[in-house]
Parts: sequence; structure tokens; C-alpha cells
Amino acid sequence: MSDAVPVITIDGPGGSGKGTVAREVARRLEWHLLDSGAIYRVLAYAVGRDAVATEDEAAIVDVAGRIRIRFEGGETDARVFVDGEEVTAAIRSEACGAIASRIAVLPGVRAALLARQRDFRRPPGLVADGRDMGTVVFPDAPVKIFLTASVEERARRRYKQLMDQGLGASLNDLVEEITERDRRDAGRAVAPLVAAADAAELDTTELAVDEVVEAVMSQVRRRLG
Ligand code: DC
Repeated sequence: MSDAVPVITIDGPGGSGKGTVAREVARRLEWHLLDSGAIYRVLAYAVGRDAVATEDEAAIVDVAGRIRIRFEGGETDARVFVDGEEVTAAIRSEACGAIASRIAVLPGVRAALLARQRDFRRPPGLVADGRDMGTVVFPDAPVKIFLTASVEERARRRYKQLMDQGLGASLNDLVEEITERDRRDAGRAVAPLVAAADAAELDTTELAVDEVVEAVMSQVRRRLG
């Protein structure tokens, strides 16, 4: 039954705007939202919490199978819990993102998180944002979007996001970290960050959020009527 439920996939590198855009599109359509990066970040948090080595694939797969992840409140403004502990703010740190990126290269880890992500596909529809939503997790999605933006612009956006959350950051460090994370996300053997062949690509460097949302909505109207 889940295959009949429409999915809009929004993939792209960190800071391309996919999270903000996915949330707004889900809100407008009143569809469910999957922030797949949050799932990798929650696992990264649990791996740190349990002092598991970031290369120990078997141990991380074990953690992935055992943690209880809960999104609470409005889906587009969700609080995140792991094993009953709120981690909404903690998983947004650069440190957690870096661990997430490192463990995301492990094929067993990606496989262990597949079912958890596909469970979000429920009527009336799902907006899924991440790196491999259109290529691996929901390859049959009727609408696929791939967002990009320059490294400098993405670093500026992340900087502002971190400041808004009261977290410290240096713009130069962010440029370096984003470049390094891009390299890792695009270079990994399993589910590398690439646009699906049937995805509409959109460079958001010069665009406001509303303009990107409108472009996505027009794709949705074109594909889903
Ligand atoms: O989108 P984000 O920054 O919250 O994602 C954190 C990390 O998780 C990112 O560096 C790569 C990984 N990730 C992934 O490999 N596949 C996804 N679908 C989502 C995130």
C-alpha cells in the first residue's frame, strides 16, 4: 500500500536549503515530513553516547537496531528524542554532523536505517529530504528535486542557522568543514550524493526560500496535477 503513497524527494548537500524547503512544502501540502539527516544525526549521537568507535560498523549497526527514535509535536517543527532523552538541539551541532557524515559511509549502517526511513511513507503523502531519497530510499518517487548552492553561500546559511540556535561557529571553519563533508558524501561507495537521473536540479545560491518553494511546488503541480 505504501507504494501508492506519493513521495516528493528533496536531496542535496548540507546548506542547499533542502531542510527548510522540505518543511515548507510539507506544511503547504499537509503531508508527512522525513528529515533523514536527523535520523543519521540521532544515530551519531547514540554512537557518541555509547562510546562506540566510528569505524566499528557491526557495533554501529547494533546501535541502529536498538535505539528508539521519536519525533514529537508538529511534524514540521518536531522535537527529537532518542531512548527518551531529548536531543533536538544536541543533534544539530557540527560535531554530531561530522560523526553522522563519517558513519553514513558504512553500507551496513545505511541498510540498517532503510526501513526506519521508509516507514514515514504514509497517506496522504511524504516529503523526504536527505542525500539519497530519490536514488535509494524512494527510487519510485513521482517528484524528485536536487538542490545545490555554492560552498560559500551554504557556509553563510549554516553560520546563520548556528547563530540563531545560540551555537558558536567560525565562517572559515564552516567553509572547510562543508568542503570536507561534500567530498565524503559524494565520494562514498554506497549511496553517494548524486542527483537521481529523473531529478529536477535547482541552484539556490541566488534564490530566496520562497522562490525555491515555488519552483518545487510547480514541479509538484506538473507531475501530480
Ligand atoms: O542533512 P544533514 O546535515 O542533517 O545530514 C547529516 C549527515 O548525515 C550528512 O553529512 C550525511 C548523512 N546523511 C546521509 O548520508 N544520507 C541522508 N539521507 C541524510 C544524511
